[in-house]
Amino acid sequence: MSESTFPEGFLWGGALAANQSEGGYLEGGKGLTTVDMIPHGSNRMKVKLGLEKRFTLHQDEFYPSHEAIDFYHRYHDDIALMAEMGFTVFRTSIAWSRIYPNGDEPTPNPQGIAFYRDLFETCRQYGIEPLVTLCHFDVPMHLVTEYGSWRNRKMIDFFARYARTCFEAFDGLVKYWLTFNEINILLHSPFSGAGLVFEEGENPEQVKYQAAHHELVASAQVTRIAHEINPENQVGCMLAGGNFYPWSSKPEDVWAALEKDRENLFFIDVQARGAYPSYSARVFREKDVKIVMADEDAEILKNTVDFVSFSYYASRCASADMNENNSSAANVVKSLTNPHLKRSDWGWGIDPLGLRITMNMMYDRYQKPLFLVENGLGARDEFNADGEIVDDYRISYLREHIRAMADAIADGIPVMGYTTWGCIDLVAASTGEMSKRYGFVHVDRDDHGNGTLLRTRKKSFWWYKKVIASNGKDLD
Ligand code: BG6
Repeated sequence: MSESTFPEGFLWGGALAANQSEGGYLEGGKGLTTVDMIPHGSNRMKVKLGLEKRFTLHQDEFYPSHEAIDFYHRYHDDIALMAEMGFTVFRTSIAWSRIYPNGDEPTPNPQGIAFYRDLFETCRQYGIEPLVTLCHFDVPMHLVTEYGSWRNRKMIDFFARYARTCFEAFDGLVKYWLTFNEINILLHSPFSGAGLVFEEGENPEQVKYQAAHHELVASAQVTRIAHEINPENQVGCMLAGGNFYPWSSKPEDVWAALEKDRENLFFIDVQARGAYPSYSARVFREKDVKIVMADEDAEILKNTVDFVSFSYYASRCASADMNENNSSAANVVKSLTNPHLKRSDWGWGIDPLGLRITMNMMYDRYQKPLFLVENGLGARDEFNADGEIVDDYRISYLREHIRAMADAIADGIPVMGYTTWGCIDLVAASTGEMSKRYGFVHVDRDDHGNGTLLRTRKKSFWWYKKVIASNGKDLD
């Protein structure tokens, strides 16, 4: 048994996102959202990356988000399962298009508010603190078709209105907020990340960084609004984390890794430090990017976040010779394959020490409390003859990462909590599969939408319950 280094009140739980779990894609007055347009199968990537315009649904495609795991109708039972494990925090997102179906209406949809109010009240009844992402890979489609999504500055006001509505409607129920999930993913998966689709001949870097600027201003703006509405509110940014290692000790490789890290950390540098980092001017020059800023933006950006949240699945690796052919985007962000790491069924590296390294780097850089809001192993699960899922591989992955997090705490880093990704099986964001499972709870549904949606506890369910009950002491 390891020594418990987790502070009292450390938040233990799991995470979902509306777009991958709720389903009910047109129920309760909800509008179509970007993820609803992303099919499963061979056309998925083109749409996800913004390389193909998909503004209508195709009869012959399967869209996993439309029904997902039906959390929209089953959340009472699902939250009860999370409570049974002893969760003290539950992360999910609000689907923007449930609150503002088109995104630009003057008033919100009362059905959407009622749904989330009941969800958050349900959490509270079990003593579970909701941790809520305002935008997790979904933008109302009307904002995409009418305004070009985040390439348009008007999005700042639409988002601020939506966020204000949420802060007011759920005041007293929700105190931990995240603005944009994995904000840096906008660079790597522009349509799913930020509703961006590219026009022939335009500089995609210009579009992406201008959109990023709008999101950064919006994030700072709503951080200010959250604090105004209730000074108890705590707002975090959210990074798709994982440090880049240099492929070798060649200075050129070390520099390449530093540059790659900066590409992702650029966002958090702004959100946590309140201004564009010094290196950004040179990077924009090289990419021929000219950001259009309003006079007030520099002042708005000074509204920094209260804490830095991040996902961690694996570290990454870069060299000066990295190119399209020798790198792959196993984890959305392109990386060389690190030969020193074991890999998951989907080729994602497994690197618990990398978590400690990442956490130390982030705390050294930002000096703000950290919150690990996604971590987990996507794996295939099979029922054995006794009808059980014995997911020792998942337990072992989580155990090693919890140990690494404990080491980071022992290094002196304040860590607020830990929410494992996909605490109940859900739709994979990258591939749209259900067979890539992360949960403590199995959901009977396959990659094509077949199955009863029945929930079954896996072996890891009982293991995590012990972990939480012992405040991270009992990891066996
Ligand atoms: C993160 C996202 O990128 O990783 C989640 O915030 C996503 O939405 C998770 O589901 C795991 O990725 P995947 O592709 O295995 O679902």
